[in-house]
Amino acid sequence: MEKMGLREIQSITNLQAVVAARTETTTTSDWKQALPVLTGSMVTLRELRLSDATSLLAMLSTDEVARFISPPPTTVEGFERFIAWTHRERAAGNYACFAVVPHGMDTAIGIFQVRQLEPGFGTAEWGFAIGSGFWGTGVFVDGARLVIDFAIDTIGVHRLEARAAILNGRGNGALRKIGALQEGILRKSFLRNGEYLDQALWTILDEDWKNQRVIWGAQIH
Ligand SMILES: CC(C)(COP(=O)(O)OP(=O)(O)OC[C@H]1O[C@@H](n2cnc3c(N)ncnc32)[C@H](O)[C@@H]1OP(=O)(O)O)[C@@H](O)C(=O)NCCC(=O)NCCS
Repeated sequence: MEKMGLREIQSITNLQAVVAARTETTTTSDWKQALPVLTGSMVTLRELRLSDATSLLAMLSTDEVARFISPPPTTVEGFERFIAWTHRERAAGNYACFAVVPHGMDTAIGIFQVRQLEPGFGTAEWGFAIGSGFWGTGVFVDGARLVIDFAIDTIGVHRLEARAAILNGRGNGALRKIGALQEGILRKSFLRNGEYLDQALWTILDEDWKNQRVIWGAQIH
């Protein structure tokens, strides 16, 4: 084989850099075409399907689930419209909504949502709701870890916010447990059933999450 000159080596290196940059761009923007399937130890997170409407109505429209969140749709058709909207918002790059599907099941028992709070997704807000039959089972933590990894590693979120009504014991407990930090109280910031409720603001920073993940990894192995 002929010896390569410095210029040829340089142009191959440049080409590799271009290919690497393209691969990077494709990987990070892929989620706008279709959400990836994320697999945990208890659940799979995947894109919502119109056929999830019936099970989501059953899971999320009960009083105990809906008590402290924005009112979910009240009909199957309403959930279908919501699901179609999630697909449009994902395609526009504003938002991602995952269905929570326990291993061994095919239907969604809850959702995790992430939406950008500023163009480019530097700061984002996440929210979640799970059917009450699955509370306290570990499904939340399993799904939450997947979705936070996705937000930080794939979308590039730097600061992930969550708001939980102060009266929502489980919501606040779940956020504390996953490692979010309570930064303050947003007074009378959430209108529910004609009443303004105080909310706690919880945040996760990308650097803290990456450090915490190393510690969790060390504990598991
Ligand atoms: C929020 C939600 C997804 C959490 O899932 P979950 O399975 O209930 O969460 P977990 O049981 O894993 O964690 C909740 C924690 O809060 C604790 N908790 C429960 N009630 C509490 C209360 N009144 N005060 C403080 N902590 C409480 C639980 O003991 C648990 O902690 P532990 O596992 O260390 O004991 C689920 O409760 C839900 O869908 N709620 C309705 C929708 C909702 O409110 N969404 C959140 C909006 S911010």
